[in-house]
Amino acid sequence: MLTSGGDAPGMNAALRAVVLAAEHYDMEVIAFRHGYEGLLDNEYLSLKAADVLHVLQYSGTIIKSARCPRFKEVAAAQLAAENLDALGLSALVVIGGDGSFRGAEHLSQYWQGQIIGVPGTIDNDLYGTDATIGYATAVAIAMDALDKIRDTADAMDRVFIVEVMGRHAGFIGLSSAMAAGAERMILPELQRDKPLTVAALVKHIKRVEAVRGPGSYVMVLSEHQWPGGAVALSEQLEAEFDMPCRPCLLGHIQRGGAPAPSDRILASQLGVHAIELILQGATRVMAGIKANQMVAVPLVDTWTKKNPLDENLLRIQHEIFNPVKKSASK
Ligand code: F6P
Repeated sequence: MLTSGGDAPGMNAALRAVVLAAEHYDMEVIAFRHGYEGLLDNEYLSLKAADVLHVLQYSGTIIKSARCPRFKEVAAAQLAAENLDALGLSALVVIGGDGSFRGAEHLSQYWQGQIIGVPGTIDNDLYGTDATIGYATAVAIAMDALDKIRDTADAMDRVFIVEVMGRHAGFIGLSSAMAAGAERMILPELQRDKPLTVAALVKHIKRVEAVRGPGSYVMVLSEHQWPGGAVALSEQLEAEFDMPCRPCLLGHIQRGGAPAPSDRILASQLGVHAIELILQGATRVMAGIKANQMVAVPLVDTWTKKNPLDENLLRIQHEIFNPVKKSASK
């Protein structure tokens, strides 16, 4: 087993579940430290139930994670296959996101053992599962931050631009905006259809003020969706349009703290599912959950197919909850 890529709250719960299920079914677990780096460097340890008993309440990952660009090379996958064979391992569980699954699929071309993915990423951007481990916690953290921002924004009648993570997907942005009642969102999915201009944004802010009177205006900005991010946009609004505006970058705070109950439970289910998939002889699949059913999704599908935003949530937040009616914003 290994945890790879950006850590996600609930990864510890997932690796605990893998170890507990493996012991239940009389299997042994070796964990590579620092993701694929540890697999290449033969940095591993044996994990028993006693080692993972009280880890599920912590974010991060006790076996460490890393990004490993060199794993794209053929020589790296070949070396990993040799190392796995030398240890007599028959299956590998990879807990991570799409980059980690691409690595797993690459490895499968050179290694005959079974490979099972477990979706661990705050971004929720993997096809085939209703949720990824860490996403619920990240949304809860963003919502909590937005609530706090609202207090000060209200007090000062200010515009705030709160930048959230999500890589190239707007799941964290949409869910936290709805949960905290943000006035506006800039999400990759919306930007792709119709990129927001600063003039249109200013117009929207003014219209909201006209409709509701003076007050706060909180906007959720998904990362990578504005040149220079929240800081640049906020400076532009202040300098060019004379609008009191502040940026707030949530950053890696979204990956820390106590994992939400739903992430701990999801991680526990998926960790056990990964071991049971191994027992069923599965390989090159991700353990997922769809409408409360455990599923096995071909690894390649997880990044080649698209996991769209919930259309209804998007409609409600972007249109119904928009203080300015569409006809008025033209
Ligand atoms: O994929 C998880 C994630 O937190 C993304 O939301 C973000 O874009 C990226 O990782 C940050 O990566 P790093 O921790 O390497 O800076």
